[in-house]
Amino acid sequence: MISVVILISGRGSNLLSLLNAVDSGSIPARIVGVLANRPAAQGLQTAAARGVPTCVVDHRQFAEREDFDAALAAAIDRFVPDLVVLAGFMRILGNAFVHHFENRLINIHPSLLPAFPGLHTHRRALAEGVRIHGCSVHFVTADLDHGPLIVQAAVPVLDDDDEATLAARVLAQEHRIYPLAVRWFCEGRLRLLDGRVLLQAPQAGDAALIAPQLVAG
Ligand code: GRF
Repeated sequence: MISVVILISGRGSNLLSLLNAVDSGSIPARIVGVLANRPAAQGLQTAAARGVPTCVVDHRQFAEREDFDAALAAAIDRFVPDLVVLAGFMRILGNAFVHHFENRLINIHPSLLPAFPGLHTHRRALAEGVRIHGCSVHFVTADLDHGPLIVQAAVPVLDDDDEATLAARVLAQEHRIYPLAVRWFCEGRLRLLDGRVLLQAPQAGDAALIAPQLVAG
């Protein structure tokens, strides 16, 4: 059974969707630990309530970014994970960290990458007037919010959207595609080739692009 560690910084709604998917049997894995860089991260309570061990590596205790990264990597390694999942983890991780977890470190980002890397993606999508927006799960590389894409979901941007309504529409899809990506990883079906992800043995219903509806959902 694949062991998964999840890193969070706050609310933890993606964490919850992953915990639910494991509990329902749709992800063949064990979530062995949840780590946060903030002691107040709400998701820590969610994990603890499910009996998942938690740990805090507070970035404010470290003067140098590299020292934080090293302490975080050591804390993760104690759980001996096969996969490390960034679920709303709001710290930039350095090259050494990324290299240490190469090909077993994934992230979810609230945009259709490579559009809108970085912060405030929904605000920027609205400002650009794009008609389509969404979210992406990708392998993490040293390049911020880049890296081989595993699955994306697209949603429409509606004329009366504000940041909150658009964020909610995207988040509903995040809760759908992250469990899917983790399931594929755990099933050993993600092959990396020349910086792209190939889904092995696709089954009926598998799609690396989810486009649920063209009207509000
Ligand atoms: C999500 O929108 C995720 O894509 C982004 O941060 C948010 C975290 O939300 N990186 P939650 O903590 O999973 O509820």
